[in-house]
Amino acid sequence: MSKKRVAILISGRGSNLQALLNAEQDAYEIVLVISNVPDAAGLERAREAGVDALTLDHKLYGKDREAFERDLDNSLVLRDIEIVALAGFMRVLTPFFVRAWAGRLVNIHPSLLPKHPGTKTHERALAAGDTEHGATVHLVVEEVDAGEIIGQASMPILPSDTPETLAERVLQLEHELYPRCLAQLARKIS
Ligand code: GRF
Repeated sequence: MSKKRVAILISGRGSNLQALLNAEQDAYEIVLVISNVPDAAGLERAREAGVDALTLDHKLYGKDREAFERDLDNSLVLRDIEIVALAGFMRVLTPFFVRAWAGRLVNIHPSLLPKHPGTKTHERALAAGDTEHGATVHLVVEEVDAGEIIGQASMPILPSDTPETLAERVLQLEHELYPRCLAQLARKIS
């Protein structure tokens, strides 16, 4: 079976991108990284790994989200991308893009979904008195953070934990979880 051609969408530091690049890419191959933020640190990580890295600045499109996504989609189609993985990509995608990539669009979220969709997940896990926390890799659907779960990694919340310590430990889990789930998806789709 040939490796699936993967694009990673980022907006920032790209530590998950780095984990995906470092992992053994036997089921997938990262061939493209796109950032919607110029100078995102993750772009440099991609270039150092010899992967094509582009900026598509959403600000240039004003309020026209779909125009931004049409150009994004064109860049992906032009390179024969088969799977799109969001890794700290801070734009909500419209139904246009989500439908175009249904079943092949995946995201990592720093909570044990369905708990704590959206932002500030570590603060909310603490405020809710949760005893465990973690990360989820899921397919992207129109409703934010609500798609089919591919995999999760969990850990206990300690009495001494703060949002910062949780963020640090969850990120470590993410770096192990994402490559495993992406490989799983790549093996599953035809
Ligand atoms: C991660 O916590 C991920 O779960 C969330 O955004 C963060 C991205 O971090 N979606 P990085 O850019 O991969 O370091």
